[in-house]
Amino acid sequence: METSNPLKVLIACECSGTVRDAFLDLGHDAWSCDIKPDERGSNRHLRGDVREILDWGWDLLMVAHPPCTRLCNSGVRWLKSPPPGRTLDEMWKELDEGAALFSDLWNAPIDRVAIENPVMHRHAKERIRNFQPQAQSVQPWQFATDPDGPDNEKKRTCLWLRGLPPLVPTGTLDGSTARNSVHFASPGPDRATERSRFFPGIARAMAEQWGGYALEETRAA
Ligand SMILES: C[S@@+](CC[C@H](N)C(=O)[O-])C[C@H]1O[C@@H](n2cnc3c(N)ncnc32)[C@H](O)[C@@H]1O
Repeated sequence: METSNPLKVLIACECSGTVRDAFLDLGHDAWSCDIKPDERGSNRHLRGDVREILDWGWDLLMVAHPPCTRLCNSGVRWLKSPPPGRTLDEMWKELDEGAALFSDLWNAPIDRVAIENPVMHRHAKERIRNFQPQAQSVQPWQFATDPDGPDNEKKRTCLWLRGLPPLVPTGTLDGSTARNSVHFASPGPDRATERSRFFPGIARAMAEQWGGYALEETRAA
């Protein structure tokens, strides 16, 4: 289904093109932005600090995947005892930077905002302006229809939503066959990138459900 009335959609902190291309597939005017180049070589990618373009008139929707290493519960231990070769000061500075970026995205001058991140620890929550609890958490397998496909995975993903309804799962599986590749990603230089890769089933649901919701709202306005 393509729309004849496209939304101007910003996908922040994305270099894989997964969510951007899901919105493009439905005919939306979607752009990704990341400090890294686009992995698919798309001309729909803006390279740089996303904070510089938040006020470009994204009249509709931003989906953001900011770096979560210092914000998420699974990394809270590093704030007491840093990993080898790093200092405690560096850990707390990175937490401040990560929380500042999350804050700028969450408070962006855009009517509808979605941010995905893992479960957050209290030091991160305390640093985020106008913090609100996540609206929902989802698992990739809830959006999977093929047991062998890329979505049949376990990875709890929290969604902070402003001006958008919770996502409704679209999958047909029950999670019993879901893989845990993210948890067991092998060590190496690509580990962080592999672990932060987004899932096409959730991306498609975002484009279909939030794109449709925002379109109806703008038509009614
Ligand atoms: C956790 S990864 C998200 C990857 C995403 N799920 C994807 O599929 O491409 C965080 C991303 O945020 C980007 N990033 C960090 N700071 C940024 C900034 N100020 N502006 C734009 N992108 C930024 C990083 O380069 C990285 O690609």
